[in-house]
Amino acid sequence: MAPEIKYNKIFIDNQWVDAVNGKTFETFNPHDGATIATVAEGDKEDINAAVQSAKRAFHRNSEWRLMDASQRGKLLNKFADLVDRDLDYLSELETYNNGMVLTTCRAFVGAAAHHIRYNASLADKIQGNTVPCDGDVFSYTLKQPVGVCGLILPWNVPVLMFISKVTTALAAGCTMVVKPAEQTPLSALALAALLAEAGVPPGVVNVVPGFGETAGAALTHHPDVALISFTGSLEVGKLIQQAAGTNNLKRVVLELGGKSPLVIMDDADLNKAVPYAAQAVFRHQGQVCIAASRLFVQAGIYDKFVQKAVEIAKSWKLGNPVLETSQNGPQIDETMMNKVLGYIEKGKSEGAKLLTGGKRVGTTGFYIEPAVFADVKDDMTIAKEEIFGPVQSILKFETLEEAIDRANATNYGLAAGIFTSSIESALQFSKHVEAGIIWVNTYFQLGAQLPFGGFKESGIGREGGLDAVNSYLEVKSVTISLPKKV
Ligand code: NAI
Ligand code: MG
Repeated sequence: MAPEIKYNKIFIDNQWVDAVNGKTFETFNPHDGATIATVAEGDKEDINAAVQSAKRAFHRNSEWRLMDASQRGKLLNKFADLVDRDLDYLSELETYNNGMVLTTCRAFVGAAAHHIRYNASLADKIQGNTVPCDGDVFSYTLKQPVGVCGLILPWNVPVLMFISKVTTALAAGCTMVVKPAEQTPLSALALAALLAEAGVPPGVVNVVPGFGETAGAALTHHPDVALISFTGSLEVGKLIQQAAGTNNLKRVVLELGGKSPLVIMDDADLNKAVPYAAQAVFRHQGQVCIAASRLFVQAGIYDKFVQKAVEIAKSWKLGNPVLETSQNGPQIDETMMNKVLGYIEKGKSEGAKLLTGGKRVGTTGFYIEPAVFADVKDDMTIAKEEIFGPVQSILKFETLEEAIDRANATNYGLAAGIFTSSIESALQFSKHVEAGIIWVNTYFQLGAQLPFGGFKESGIGREGGLDAVNSYLEVKSVTISLPKKV
């Protein structure tokens, strides 16, 4: 049974309101394309109202700014408890609105609660230094929240993205306006209600559902916003960096996806490497920024590896994401499904060998069979562009040196992995590959404590860990003149 939709309006000042212009939009279940809710469609005026609310909540005399840092941590821990309490509901909502299989949703919501607790623990550990300056002075630094933040979310992992960005900004003491992706507005609204229930004061977190070109762009151009944190496409990331320098000078934290290489050496444990490589690109229908979408396999094991990879892809179970038997659900929407199918056609026409899958399944919902391409060359489109679908592209290589250079021959640099039994190969790879996240004999292993983000066009800044909270802080140096003699 579909989960009850409790919230479908704009959330400003801890109140639910309609859009100023009265507009709404529909949101769908990607399993069958059925409408599951009609949601208020925020635009420029709603964004402005939300930013003004966040600005009031950031005033030096506001409840939020006067609150002890340890109390901010307590509120965040309360929020984590509420997320745990509502884990079943939030997971089901995510599955219905996003198509992620329910078992994975449950794991992600659990990880999100863990992420909140990590950030809660940081709230009262944000501290400056005393600085031994020359002369008769006493100098110290203060770390202070940067101000009103604009957080623009993608549709692929909505709960985790909301929680990662919002709770990092809250730990730092910022206030904010969140713009969830138009495909998946529901979980952000449900989480906003839990923040209010936890006791977060009005105006600290506002949520405005709406579209990118309208609500999103208004947020990135707003002169009272100090920072934009965005996860999504490279194309929009570049627009956001430009917008950030238009009406004021905003900081930007950008996570813009990747074309992540996974390298399998001849000496790898194939029983482990083959299933990991499949998970690394098929899981969540390939709609993962860190998907291993370039799979480099060393010549000595290439044929054997490809044969096993095809067997795994053929056995992959597609189905309604609410069922425990389903390994994959549908792509998020028709546009994205067609985009992925277009890449598969391009792969075939450019001469890659499609060994299995790659077709749409059924006519309702947006299902695609996991596809395996062999004999992929570096200059083919499927080896260069982010597909965001269940498409494994296998490339052959001879030496580790060659694999490293080819892994680096991309404008992206988010994640990279290697399977090998040689510690030397693992260390060389980890040192020389230009990526923000490296995995050795594993993949997709993440933690709230670890920085997450990319080199090159994969983005700017990091989420997760201490690096993330520092993005939301200004450093102030204070110098006090001291009398020469006591
Ligand atoms: P997108 O980048 O257009 O959308 C992401 C978010 O940005 C949404 O909230 C959207 O409303 C907002 N947005 C769009 N245009 C905007 C603008 N001009 N100003 C401010 N905000 C704006 O991504 P889309 O179209 O959903 O997906 C396209 C491709 O992006 C995917 O095929 C995939 O390759 C990549 N992508 C990467 C993600 C990642 O995790 N890095 C997540 C989602 C998509
Ligand atoms: Mg877009």
